[in-house]
Formats: sequence, C-alpha cells, structure tokens
Amino acid sequence: MADREYRTLKVEREDGVTFLYFNRPEKRNAMNPTLLAEMVDALDWLETDPDTQILVLTGAGDAFTAGMDLKEYFRELDDQPEARLKALWNLRMFHHTRLAGFAKVTIAMVNGWCFGGGFSPLVSCDLAIAAEEAQFGLSEVNWGIIPGGFVSKDVVHALSYRHAFWYALTGETFDGKRAAEIGLVNLAVPRAELRARTLEVARHLMQISPMVLRATKEALRVVPQLGWDEAFDYLMAKQAWLRANDPERSRDRGIRQFIDEKKYRPGLGPQPREG
Ligand code: ACO
Repeated sequence: MADREYRTLKVEREDGVTFLYFNRPEKRNAMNPTLLAEMVDALDWLETDPDTQILVLTGAGDAFTAGMDLKEYFRELDDQPEARLKALWNLRMFHHTRLAGFAKVTIAMVNGWCFGGGFSPLVSCDLAIAAEEAQFGLSEVNWGIIPGGFVSKDVVHALSYRHAFWYALTGETFDGKRAAEIGLVNLAVPRAELRARTLEVARHLMQISPMVLRATKEALRVVPQLGWDEAFDYLMAKQAWLRANDPERSRDRGIRQFIDEKKYRPGLGPQPREG
C-alpha cells in the first residue's frame, strides 16, 4: 500500500524502521494545527501498518521541533474558539494517547532544536537518542507562559525534581550531552552518527518479539500511576494476557531453548526467534 502524503509530515522507511519526520523545516518544525491533526492520522495509520516495526520520530532540517507554533497555534487561534478546541484535542490525542500509547516501540531521534511543547513528543517516545549538537530549552518563561499542555507533567516525570525546576524556571538551553547526563535522552552521539546509531538500536529491538515489547512498554507506562497492590495485580494480569496473545510463544520458546536445548542464555542477548 502506498505511503500517505501529508503537508507537514514526511515518512521514510528502512528495513522495518519507519522514520516519521516533522516536516516544516522552514519554520523549524513548529507544531501548527495542521501538524497536530496529521500526527493523529499518521500514528493511527503506522500503528496498524505491517511494514512498521519500530517508529522513529525526528525532524527535517536543523530542528527536531521549535515547539508550538507561536503564530498559527497561539496567536491565530486566540479568536477562533472552535478551531482552538480542535487543535487542543489533537494535541492531547497526539502526545499522550496516540504516541505514548503506540503499540510498537518508539524512538525520538532528536536531530536539532527542541523547545517548549517539543518536550511532550520527546518524553512520550519510549526511548530517545539525541545529537550532541541538539539544543533543548523550556523557553516558556520567556514567552510569558507556563510549560502548558502536558509539558510540566512530562518534565517532572522524566527529569529529577531539581532539574525540572531549574530548566523550567531559568529557560536555560542545554545540549544533547547535557540531555543525556540528566536522563532526558538515553544517549547522545555526534550528529553525523545519529541515524546509524538509532538504526542500530532499532535493529536490536527488532530481534525481540513485538508482543513482548508491547506488553513491556504498556506495563512500564501504567505502573507509576498504580499503588503497589494494584501494580502487582495489573502485572499478573498483563503477564497472563501476554502469554495468551504472543503468537511467537516467546516464554515457552525461551525456556525450551535454555532448559532442554541448552542453546540460549538470556543474559547473552535477545532470544533467537524461530520461523
Ligand atoms: N513558532 C512559530 N514560528 C517559528 C517558531 C515557533 N515556535 N520557531 C521558529 N519559527 C519560525 C520563525 O518565525 C521563522 O519564520 P520566518 O522565516 O517566516 O521569519 C522561521 O521559523 C525560522 O526561524 P529563525 O528564528 O529565523 O531560525 P533560526 O535557525 O535562526 O533559529 C530557533 C531557530 C532557535 C529554534 C528560533 O527559531 C527560536 O528560538 N524559535 C522559538 C523557540 C521556542 O521558544 N519555542 C517554544 C514556543 S512556546 C511552546 O512551545 C509552548
């Protein structure tokens, strides 16, 4: 099936990995209402696209995203209540329903500028790899606004309390190396190596059963919101769900390969998939 065409997004594919680009490089990929709506559509499509095993979210040109579009999302929607409402719903759907809830592993590949509202899609991805040269900033205080949408919640969730307060209050920018130091991204590499390193991580993940990855990411997303007893019950139920739904029967296969066939040790890498 042909790839979908968008005005503000671009899709590239490489061996099971789908690169989804914010594609407004002339506006540093600022998120306007069209982009928010197109993201919701693209995430629905790619979640069910059999050729997408891993989703990489990145930006065209020099920016990951310069955050919310100050002209088209903020100023122009001030006196358009219905359009504003639609954009707000698409923002909510995109960041925390469709992206955070995406059934396959997602990687934010932060190639350049990442400001303000850009922290939400970054944090909503399961993993994040940044160019050392990328620049991050919670610039909201400089625009006379708070980190709204989900941004305040995202940064308190993803960063230590002290780092979240520091960067939100000062608006100070920091680079990819610092983002890795404070745990906002998993690792930072020179920009020239960013795509290759991201593909390496994606290829490692593609050796693991997609259903096991899905259940694992869903479990990690849900448990922080639960008490200890609820988390235990939820994880027992999730484990049973996985066992019933994993078409590769990874649990039985792993035990057989380790105990009976003595050809696999889980400490030494992904379980060999069969068939
Ligand atoms: N909203 C709307 N337009 C934007 C945004 C944005 N967030 N960011 C950049 N643009 C536009 C610029 O207005 C300019 O448009 P023009 O060519 O029509 O004049 C174009 O993108 C290029 O921007 P420059 O500033 O010329 O690009 P440069 O490479 O020099 O700088 C940088 C890039 C540092 C990202 C700069 O554009 C910037 O500081 N942008 C704002 C970043 C920000 O604070 N975002 C948070 C917004 S608030 C929020 O997200 C909640």
